[in-house]
Amino acid sequence: MINENSTIQFLLNDKQVSINYNQVNNFSPTTTVLQYLRNLPQTKGTKEGCAEGDCGACSVVIVSLNVENKLEYKAYDSCLLFLPMLHGKQLITVEYLKSKNELHAVQQAMVDTDGSQCGFCTPGFIMSLFALYKNSKNPSREEIDDALTGNLCRCTGYRPIIDAAIKSCSNHRQDHISENEFEVIEQLQKINQLKETNSFFTATQKYHKPHALADALKLKFSFPQALVVSGATDVALRVTKKHELLTEIIDISGVEELKNRIEENDRIYFGAGLNLEDVRLKTENSLPALHKMLNVFGSRQIRNRGTLGGNVANASPIGDMPPVLMAHNASVILESIYGKRELKLTEFITGYRTTQLKPTEIITGIKIPKPDKNIILQSYKISKRKDLDISTVSAGFSLQLNNESIVVDIKMYYGGMAATTKEPLQTKQFLIGKKWERKTIEEAMQLIDQEFTPISDARSGAEARKIMARNLLLKFWTETKIK
Ligand SMILES: Cc1cc2nc3c(=O)[nH]c(=O)nc-3n(C[C@H](O)[C@H](O)[C@H](O)COP(=O)(O)OP(=O)(O)OC[C@H]3O[C@@H](n4cnc5c(N)ncnc54)[C@H](O)[C@@H]3O)c2cc1C
Ligand code: FES
Ligand code: FES
Repeated sequence: MINENSTIQFLLNDKQVSINYNQVNNFSPTTTVLQYLRNLPQTKGTKEGCAEGDCGACSVVIVSLNVENKLEYKAYDSCLLFLPMLHGKQLITVEYLKSKNELHAVQQAMVDTDGSQCGFCTPGFIMSLFALYKNSKNPSREEIDDALTGNLCRCTGYRPIIDAAIKSCSNHRQDHISENEFEVIEQLQKINQLKETNSFFTATQKYHKPHALADALKLKFSFPQALVVSGATDVALRVTKKHELLTEIIDISGVEELKNRIEENDRIYFGAGLNLEDVRLKTENSLPALHKMLNVFGSRQIRNRGTLGGNVANASPIGDMPPVLMAHNASVILESIYGKRELKLTEFITGYRTTQLKPTEIITGIKIPKPDKNIILQSYKISKRKDLDISTVSAGFSLQLNNESIVVDIKMYYGGMAATTKEPLQTKQFLIGKKWERKTIEEAMQLIDQEFTPISDARSGAEARKIMARNLLLKFWTETKIK
């Protein structure tokens, strides 16, 4: 038996808000936070640009209590968040930054550096800058660029906005938002005490938001056809762009048990619900090839929300995680009320957007073996732009050589070259036992060409994709050859 509650509670700036879905008719469970804010008279500072996570005009900051009961401030695209995802959080909008008659330091810096022209993008930039201000006292230029990757401006050319980031963050002082933290912590603790599943039923939709894994698994058993939603960075587009009515949803974004990272002797376990930015921050030293791929994954707002589980479940041929995870020989943990099973990611993904996930199962984690010292791992992503772009071709490589530079084992997983992440098996067989030298690589490049028949689409022609695949192997060799 699951205890259910039809009300969500959150803080909108400093006001507590309760929405009982049994009593409202102006919102559906898949109303986005952006649509909600644009319908309130006092929060129209948040703008809609693209409604698909690309422009950042809708950026807000969401404050969550972490396991140490401290507040974490993160920027999100409000166009990709469903309203129930705010339960137990504080939503900060641009209107809350000013205190009495004083602009917030990031706002004042934007004024001082002429960081705003037409102003449409400005509230979104302000919120990304505010999240940076809260998290970093003296950010490097790299950190600033990354924090602003998810925000587009058509007028300023970015330099004044970067100057505003440097000016405000290096001159850090207490803001009025920090002064209220004690009350916010108390209010959020109170809301989060109740671990009841939030369940909302309208005439056309059922939306369940469990807070315990056991409840999530029971719900998936009772409603096997329900769509699991985690970060919603893919699912929300079905609502905002395709105008689909999602009739049955199990939102697992509130299940803390899915956000663990556990380091064992021989492998590292990541909960499927861990957001990609946390994974990025936790893999710099332990799994550098994965970290490198995450550095060019979407934007800060997308990574704050999107999850490892979501990327793997998608089984997209251009998803950035499968090639590098497969090169790492990663496994997927699947759970249902009947128990757990573990599958290699290479077996889990069966074809174009198809997997071995059963209707009653949820992905609960990803296990990555700790790389052996004599294995070299690398990842590559080629896209039209460096930042916030989907891959044209990507690759994850793993190489083991013996003392004579002979290939003992090699893995080469490519994205964007076939209907699913694919390894050129004949090329692999050809390379094993050969000397890791240019002559061998040039022969292998010919073979890769024969093994792939990619498509032409808006991102690239088929022939260009073949050239990219060949040259990525050459690049890998130039980076790993014994000098
Ligand atoms: C602007 C933008 C930029 C993007 N950039 C990139 C990029 O650079 N590279 C890239 O690879 N992708 C990118 N994406 C796609 C997306 O962010 C990723 O695929 C992300 O990892 C999805 O995770 P999620 O938690 O948001 O998934 P959701 O949207 O919540 O779900 C996606 C799918 O996975 C299923 N699912 C999610 N979690 C589970 C689970 N635990 N168990 C079972 N099924 C589950 C859902 O049912 C759904 O079918 C981008 C998306 C946007 C909007
Ligand atoms: S409106 Fe463009 S990212 Fe949300
Ligand atoms: S100031 Fe005009 S879009 Fe940025």
